[in-house]
Amino acid sequence: MKHTRIIVTHYGEPDALQVVEEECPEPKHGEVRVRVLVAGVSLPDILAREGVHPETPRLPFTPGWDLVGEVDRLGDGVSGIESGQIVAAMPISGAYAEFVCLPHRELVPVPSGLDAAEAVSLVLNYVTAYQMMHHSAKVRPGQRVLIHGAAGGVGTALLQLGRLAGLEMYGTCSSRGAASVSDLGGIPIDYRHQDFVEEVRRLTSEGVESVFDPIGGASPLAFPRVI
Ligand SMILES: NC(=O)c1ccc[n+]([C@@H]2O[C@H](COP(=O)([O-])OP(=O)(O)OC[C@H]3O[C@@H](n4cnc5c(N)ncnc54)[C@H](OP(=O)(O)O)[C@@H]3O)[C@@H](O)[C@H]2O)c1
Repeated sequence: MKHTRIIVTHYGEPDALQVVEEECPEPKHGEVRVRVLVAGVSLPDILAREGVHPETPRLPFTPGWDLVGEVDRLGDGVSGIESGQIVAAMPISGAYAEFVCLPHRELVPVPSGLDAAEAVSLVLNYVTAYQMMHHSAKVRPGQRVLIHGAAGGVGTALLQLGRLAGLEMYGTCSSRGAASVSDLGGIPIDYRHQDFVEEVRRLTSEGVESVFDPIGGASPLAFPRVI
């Protein structure tokens, strides 16, 4: 059986992407073949295509950080999962394909009734945001936080998780993102026209307990970090 996947042929602009047709991959021992229903499209995918992300695979590679798909075929030694089951995964690369083989242990069941495209939007950005908020910063209800890039993928995930955690949130964004930041419970600060340090001091007088920074100063290579 044939399938198609996208490969990055050289690091660069979208013309680096090519569609290839080839034999469908067969699952090895401990692997599951997944029919990809949806793949997320994220900033890290673009940075990998450009060859500037720290986890950029060697050329040629298939991009696609996260996916939701249907279990298609089980490799030897795999049990506890059934053909047709809907699963999510974060393989870092490989999701821009019709079929992908992944280790069974890396698959997470997706509750029935969820829209696949909505479910995949939770994988990369929300795992990243959850780790920053609960594993690194260990926030507590009532704390004040500043979220940079608050209108972006990771930023909006931080705002939604922060609202659930009962945080008082300030978010830097440009004017076009201000409404989304407010809608998600944050107080927008226009980083293009305001000094965010002065603005946070003015609004809070005592500053904030944590700063979530997925922007990384001048470096696009910086990973999201908590200050
Ligand atoms: N697991 C991981 O480690 C992981 C996972 C996901 C993402 N990331 C990284 O996290 C970063 C953000 O990813 P993302 O998916 O959230 O990107 P994104 O959706 O493109 O969002 C970035 C946001 O930052 C805003 N922005 C740009 N410059 C800014 C500045 N100086 N101050 C405040 N906001 C600024 C942008 O728009 P406006 O200018 O309109 O406000 C945009 O809303 C990337 O470096 C990505 O590689 C890492």
